[in-house]
Amino acid sequence: MTTTAILRAEGLAKRFGGVQALNAVDFECKAGEVVALMGDNGAGKSTLIRILCGATKPDSGQILINGTVRSISRPQDAVTNGISVVYQDLALVGSMDVARNVFLGHELRKFGFIRISKMREEATMLLGQLKINISSSKLQVESLSGGQRQCIAIARAVRLGSDFVLLDEPTAALGPEQQANVLRIVTELRNAGKGVVLISHNIDQVLAVSDRIVVMRGGQVAGMRNTKETNTQEIVSMIVGDQSFVKHNLQNQSTSLKGE
Ligand SMILES: Nc1ncnc2c1ncn2[C@@H]1O[C@H](COP(=O)(O)OP(=O)(O)OP(=O)(O)O)[C@@H](O)[C@H]1O
Ligand SMILES: [Mg+2]
Repeated sequence: MTTTAILRAEGLAKRFGGVQALNAVDFECKAGEVVALMGDNGAGKSTLIRILCGATKPDSGQILINGTVRSISRPQDAVTNGISVVYQDLALVGSMDVARNVFLGHELRKFGFIRISKMREEATMLLGQLKINISSSKLQVESLSGGQRQCIAIARAVRLGSDFVLLDEPTAALGPEQQANVLRIVTELRNAGKGVVLISHNIDQVLAVSDRIVVMRGGQVAGMRNTKETNTQEIVSMIVGDQSFVKHNLQNQSTSLKGE
């Protein structure tokens, strides 16, 4: 029997000094689903992602996979639990080639030696599977465009075999064509059965590529919508906080969570 993997956060809270970055946040992403995380600057989106991938420790709350509480207190714990992340700042090494970057931190070795040919071979195969247009895995990353670098960071996350891939503003710094390429990869990941969490400020993109939209405001979940059942205007009012709207929306949200 195959079950759908579900990554869930319950009651997450995080304070930085005087700022309550997250407050009682519940969040969920299923395998085979793209969940867009939207909200104004400082809403708490990156903090939520960082907690889910073990980079930030919450003050309270828990993370569950398929209903079981998991301890994710270091980035390695997230990898072990099938969660990988591509940060806003990509953390690639420009002076190394594509293959080395795809395997960064998880290099293939034999008798202690790095297996560069094997890594190049596998990197080329992976780029092909994701339909990433980079002519050779021997190219230095510093010679690539922003979009290509973004794709390599995503390929690295995918290579870890994760069920969930978390992307923090993967298209923010890209031109339209490169953005489209990254969004195509997001769709490929979903089609391959991964759960994708996508932080983005671009509503058109989010409406085009996501299955569900979660809006955060002031460290809380302001509401969520199935993408098919919403529109730009509704999402914008959730982001900026139309009070009458938010009340209605929170009711919807609790109904929807109970129903799952
Ligand atoms: N390491 C930190 N130290 C202190 N304050 C932090 C830290 N990280 C986040 N914050 C604060 O927590 C709040 C939420 O920040 P977060 O980065 O999660 O927002 P965001 O929704 O990702 O915003 P953006 O869209 O600008 O990336 C902000 O007020 C921010 O200043
Ligand atoms: Mg952020």
